[in-house]
Order: sequence, then structure tokens, then C-alpha cells
Amino acid sequence: MSHVDDHEGTRRDFLYYATAGAGAVTAGAAVWPLVNQMNPSADVKALASIRVDTSGIEPGTQLTVKWLGKPVFIRRRTQEEIDEARAVPLADLSIDAESRNDNKPGTDAADENRAMDENGEWLVMMGVCTHLGCVPLGDGAGDFGGWFCPCHGSHYDTSGRIRKGPAPENLPVPVARFEGSELVLG
Ligand code: FES
Repeated sequence: MSHVDDHEGTRRDFLYYATAGAGAVTAGAAVWPLVNQMNPSADVKALASIRVDTSGIEPGTQLTVKWLGKPVFIRRRTQEEIDEARAVPLADLSIDAESRNDNKPGTDAADENRAMDENGEWLVMMGVCTHLGCVPLGDGAGDFGGWFCPCHGSHYDTSGRIRKGPAPENLPVPVARFEGSELVLG
């Protein structure tokens, strides 16, 4: 089940390109231990960091990009989604109470530890179900208004936290940062 192509090809206004050279090499050590272990070729290293122009993403929509062969969800949340995510008591996050955020390792799954910005408008996550790797459906899918993986019925909330179903972990937040309106992954 793939949701990746829904946005690609239709959102031509987005810049989406791989950086080359020094930036990519610098980022190489920080991302994806798996890639490092595999001793990647120069081609793979060049793709270890990508930049995505987020200026055209409207509130309440999600852009999905491919990074290192995997989908990454870049969601600009509405105030309702943010409020909903932040109103959830940690005690309700019984399946996984860790944030899984590579930018803030070891933090709990409070929404404040998962969003990219203080206001919580931007949520960036790997779009890969932590059960067996399907790509969850977004745009308010599932019982918790976030993402739903139809493969075996995993429900994620508006912060990408697993709330119901067989998936064992929250959707991981990759190493990422904003430079102006550009999101740098890796
Ligand atoms: S792969 Fe998502 S629920 Fe099994």
C-alpha cells in the first residue's frame, strides 16, 4: 500500500533536490547508521542530504518526499491537529512513550518533543509503519485523526504516535532542520 505518489508529480511548485558536495558529506555521519554501516558509494552519500522547499505547503496538507529510498512525511498541521496532539496525556501513550526523534534523542513522546518548531506547526516523520514497513495513509486517517496503516490496522495520532494496532513504535522523526523555508533532511 503506497501513498507516496499521491503528491509527487502533482505538486510541481515544490523544489526538491539533492544537495551535492560538502553539505552532504558533513551530514553523512549523522544520518542513518545503516547507510554508514553499509559503507555507501559516493552516489548514496550525495543523496544523504536533501533540501525541500516547504513554502508552498498549506496548513492541513502533507508533502511526501523520498529520501534515501524511503518516504518522508512533511506535514504542516492545523491548529486543531496541534491542539489535539498536545492534549494527549503521556499516560495514554502506552504502546510507545518515546519520541523516536533523532534531533532530540531520548525524549518522551510529548508532541513538543516531536514537532520541528515550538508552535508545533511542522511535523516531519519517516512515512514507514513501524510494524512491517508499509506506508501509512495520512490526511486525518484512522481512529486518532493522523495516519492509518491498512496493512494490519495501525492507527497513529496527529503527532504520528502509535495509539492502536500492532505497530510497536511511533513514527520516527529523522535528522532534519529548517533553513528559512527549506527543510534539510540529513
Ligand atoms: S505494516 Fe503497518 S500495520 Fe503492519
